[in-house]
Amino acid sequence: MNNKYFYRSLLLIYATVFSFLCKAQKTIDEKVDSVLKLMTLDEKVGQMNQYNGDWDATGPITPQGDKQNQIRKGMVGSMLNVTGVEHTVELQKIAMQSRMKIPLLFGQDIIHGYRTTFPIPLAEAASWDLEAIKSSARIAATEAAASGVHWTFAPMVDIARDPRWGRVMEGAGEDPYLGSLIATARVKGFQGKGLGNTDALMACAKHFAAYGAAIGGRDYNSVDMSLLTLWNIYLPPFKAAAEAGAATFMNSFNTLNGIPATGNKYLQTDILKDKWRFKGFIVSDWNSIGEMIPHGFAKDNYDAALKAVTAGNDMDMESRSYIQNLAKLVKDGKVSIQRIDDAVRRILKKKFELGLFDDPYKFSDKKREQQQWNNKQNLQAEKIMAEKSIVLLKNEPFPSGRAGMGILPLNKNNLKGKTIALIGPFIKSIRDNLGFWSYTWPDDSERIISIWEAIKNKVGNSTNLLYAKGCNIDDTSHEGFAEAIKAAMEADVVIMSVGEAANWSGEAKSRSNIHLPGVQKELIKAIYATGKPIVVMINAGRPLIFNWTADHIPSIVYAWWLGTEAGDAIADVLFGDYNPSAKLPMSFPRAEGQIPIYYNYFNTGRPAKNDSDLNYVSAYIDLPNSPKFPFGYGLSYTTFSYSDIKLNSTILRPGKALTASVVITNSGKYDGKETVQLYIRDMVGSVVRPVKELKGFQQIFLKAGESKTITFKITTDDLKFYNDKLIYNYEPGDFKIFIGTNSEDVKEAGFTLQK
Ligand code: BGC
Repeated sequence: MNNKYFYRSLLLIYATVFSFLCKAQKTIDEKVDSVLKLMTLDEKVGQMNQYNGDWDATGPITPQGDKQNQIRKGMVGSMLNVTGVEHTVELQKIAMQSRMKIPLLFGQDIIHGYRTTFPIPLAEAASWDLEAIKSSARIAATEAAASGVHWTFAPMVDIARDPRWGRVMEGAGEDPYLGSLIATARVKGFQGKGLGNTDALMACAKHFAAYGAAIGGRDYNSVDMSLLTLWNIYLPPFKAAAEAGAATFMNSFNTLNGIPATGNKYLQTDILKDKWRFKGFIVSDWNSIGEMIPHGFAKDNYDAALKAVTAGNDMDMESRSYIQNLAKLVKDGKVSIQRIDDAVRRILKKKFELGLFDDPYKFSDKKREQQQWNNKQNLQAEKIMAEKSIVLLKNEPFPSGRAGMGILPLNKNNLKGKTIALIGPFIKSIRDNLGFWSYTWPDDSERIISIWEAIKNKVGNSTNLLYAKGCNIDDTSHEGFAEAIKAAMEADVVIMSVGEAANWSGEAKSRSNIHLPGVQKELIKAIYATGKPIVVMINAGRPLIFNWTADHIPSIVYAWWLGTEAGDAIADVLFGDYNPSAKLPMSFPRAEGQIPIYYNYFNTGRPAKNDSDLNYVSAYIDLPNSPKFPFGYGLSYTTFSYSDIKLNSTILRPGKALTASVVITNSGKYDGKETVQLYIRDMVGSVVRPVKELKGFQQIFLKAGESKTITFKITTDDLKFYNDKLIYNYEPGDFKIFIGTNSEDVKEAGFTLQK
């Protein structure tokens, strides 16, 4: 075939495929329209109405009418918290008795797994492993979809700079770049090969927008922020989720600069639907439409429904404002039927895409549910994800330990015939390692093994294990201390597990004091005083403050809430079967007074030269500016050394790329994985730019002694930001580039971007 023919045939194929795709697309749109045409106004409003099921609740319950009867009348488009084949089939059957027979959508908070609980999202973010995060969402979707769920209210992509806010556990931390990549991974993971596959869940990017910046870290509180911060920091992960094809968005409880997000046209219509061309639908948060009344933004439910729907909110979760008022609002001429049709079209389209019109019971499959129920591979994947999420914060020589080395990893052989004391309220607990937003199953106690059991399995009978709880998580009593001290005294090594209970971080779980609860710090001190080699593990849903522990205990592991396989994953890390590789996705403060704390701050006109500089600079007289552990921080059992940065040029021109390389050497004794991080600083901008911004990272595995060159390519795309006119572009000038093992420990170089 000559070239001309070849290109012509190619063109023909493209044209055919394109017209086929258009047709397929059109068919769904046409189908939606054909249904819409037959619907009464009340039925349309019904599609925009979502109720909670009768089995579980994730918010304050509104007194209900007869839900089943309403479903039968076509007054309900979706239900949440209805799971399991039996329940979903039961309600779907009722929906099939309605005049239009429009199937119900079942939504649920599948935040970090369903049958298999994965690490909390913040912990997963610490892995910086996008493929693993995507697989975790994939497995969660597969399990939930087999139980009749169509739609997860995840991922939460709120940027969080305030660890007092309990919901930091649900997101990817403080950074917009990492947060955007993780948002994409999670959306793709949940939605799999596309809606319509029986293992795909619709994703829901939430909470739109800026919810993570609730003043004082107090949940549901107001948010006040500049548009610059909104666009440069808080919106990017949402944009990424929309671009990744998230089927739905959820708005948020907070006001943003005086306007509740739920009634915010700028956010929902101007940005999301118009500028970003989002074609899915927006669901309110739980009663967030009704909450515009106490906000002082709506007079009553009629007014609230009016404000929400005209702002772009398509579905009402649990406030009943739509079902009670929308039809009247249309009849009163306050809301156009076009707006209602637009919302209903968006909702019906997703139902068609899911294939529910062809088979409303498609996702409720007893056999599939059973298979997923007992899927051992999912547990295996969970364990790997948990291992990747564990952060080694410290591993220094213990006074009586081996010279120059930390206690970790523990050596099973050396511990033969010796004694380990396992102390702390988490050692034998099960639920606490699952964390908030996890599900309880009747066989949990057989299926989930504690840290105690996992370590017992790991060391076998040849090592003696002692256990003492020491105290409860939020105890005020020291009663258990004596027993714990005795166990420590009899042991050769002590492993302690302390932290926050599973319901201490999560929705409505803000804390003003984020230190270790109860008397746990005192317990650590008491055990430390025995002089025994000691490892402290911290389980929590947020960055906690534990300065004394950080300053005194030589080996510290941050184990978050790691899910179903937490016990085994922790044992693997402690005994060196997995070499820790995770890096903090949030800065860890020294005190609550530093909050909000984040690495990508502005320099100010009086930057402190260092942590002790107090000479009329921007600093605290009683606290360093720096965090206790910085963003991107995390150790390995091995060490990595970084060469200086080599740039191929110190000049970058638009349209061209610059490369920055470093040689990384595994200079320690163990094989290990490193996350090499690239940060950039724009030295002078039309608006001030952060001192550092993460712009890339690469994960490499190096054998002990091995070296590798890592190269980052930098183009003007990496230098763009929203300026004061909210135009996204780069500005010529000088830039600094940093490559390192965390946001503070970096090598530095510079280049100039020319016009
Ligand atoms: C939360 C949402 C959640 C919804 C449904 C709300 O209270 O803010 O994140 O998806 O409840 O459970």
